[in-house]
Amino acid sequence: MEIRRIAELLRTGQPGEAVTVRGWVRTKRELKEFAFAEVNDGSGMANLQVVINADLADSDTILRQLNTGASVEVTGEVVESPAKGQRIELKATTVRVYGEADPQSYVLQKKRHSFEFLRTIAHLRSRTNTYGAVFRVRNACAAAVHQFFQERGFLWVHTPIITASDCEGAGELFSVTSLDLNALPLNEAKAVDFSQDFFGKRAFLTVSGQLEAEIMALAFGSVYTFGPTFRAENSNTSRHLAEFWMIEPEMAFCDLDGNMDLAEAFLKHIFKSVLENCAEDMEFFNKRIDNSVLETADNIINNEFERITYTEAIAQLEKSDRKFEYPVSWGLDLQSEHERYLAEELFKKPVIVTDYPAEIKAFYMRQNDDGKTVRAMDVLAPKVGEIIGGSQREERLDVLENRIKASGIDAEELWWYLDLRRYGTVPHAGFGLGFERVVQFMTGMGNIRDVIPFPRAPQTIDF
Ligand code: 4AD
Ligand code: MG
Repeated sequence: MEIRRIAELLRTGQPGEAVTVRGWVRTKRELKEFAFAEVNDGSGMANLQVVINADLADSDTILRQLNTGASVEVTGEVVESPAKGQRIELKATTVRVYGEADPQSYVLQKKRHSFEFLRTIAHLRSRTNTYGAVFRVRNACAAAVHQFFQERGFLWVHTPIITASDCEGAGELFSVTSLDLNALPLNEAKAVDFSQDFFGKRAFLTVSGQLEAEIMALAFGSVYTFGPTFRAENSNTSRHLAEFWMIEPEMAFCDLDGNMDLAEAFLKHIFKSVLENCAEDMEFFNKRIDNSVLETADNIINNEFERITYTEAIAQLEKSDRKFEYPVSWGLDLQSEHERYLAEELFKKPVIVTDYPAEIKAFYMRQNDDGKTVRAMDVLAPKVGEIIGGSQREERLDVLENRIKASGIDAEELWWYLDLRRYGTVPHAGFGLGFERVVQFMTGMGNIRDVIPFPRAPQTIDF
């Protein structure tokens, strides 16, 4: 018997077809002559209604076992559904219960739980409507990312997760070591002797694959990374994770304008693709989570992003009559409240802010002739704030060397990065898109911990 996925069956199944489905029971309703079980296999939002007649062999045992959460295989005949809201249902001929779920102890019963509670049962929450929709949308976003770059001839490169360098220079690194933490070897200066560690020097989990992506871009032209990144910043917010996924395109022979164009086309493509492929899930979010997500998606796809310089942004913020917690002045690192004011209230669409003060940005960004600002760009989105951070890179050896020195970074550690400027350097640019932030933006989910299956955040790691 052909095993069918429920989403596809609901779309294309015809009365008279004999089919088998496998999934988990969402609810059961028992009447005198027959019972209904709603079965979901994760393929879509809608459940398949299974009808079990009282005269089915072993129906008493089956119905006793068929509680919410039980895993089942149902074979039967597709019939037209007399009920409203569904075209077809499945009349069971055999039902096999693989694993029961005790209604006394299985927590995912009809009652709606809060997201906070569901976060404490990350091993079960994917079986709920909301998380089902979130992770299908997440998957569709990931597919759209690859499609976008592959169609444009970008090479997907795999940059290391364990690294010896701090790309962002922010010191938010998790250490990787195989030393015995209870018996650390010390050197003459009574500091930990990392020469005895696994790699013979200090190692960390990467905060970004950018520096390695630059290496690859200077060989392949256009590349992108898509992998996990780690930050030990103690930010207990609804927008920060300690482990998150980032997409980082990097393009040789490209300046900041080209970078902005790519970022805008990229976001538009992801939104369009998800609307096409996850229409039902997106409608669910619009109805149940945030009634502006469809309008927002439409806005992203059909309007040009605003582009302003940091200096202009500061002027706009100073002009506003809004009282900000962090007072606004030139040189300030934009805070979430400022970013959201610009995107949500002033322009009501994504805003690309460029040319930030060098002081508040990483060492690798290309310096402007004014001596004060760098060719940085942040894409700010309504509700989530910064969703993309990027820049044109400093491709001039002498300027980069000076900048590294001024930032207090040990140039010897970056000898290979400097080599890229010694041999065949070109203007190049790239950016990083926070994958969870885009899923959050898309779905309207308020907390970033609800758009990654197993969130890691300060004091938060269950298994
Ligand atoms: O702005 P960031 O720090 O930029 C970089 O890492 C560059 N090396 C990227 C590049 O040019 N190749 O991070 C990029 C994006 C942010 O805009 C944000 O969306 C996301 O990564 N991000 C986080 N997402 C979740 N949790 C965190 N703690 C995040 N930190 C950054
Ligand atoms: Mg940033």
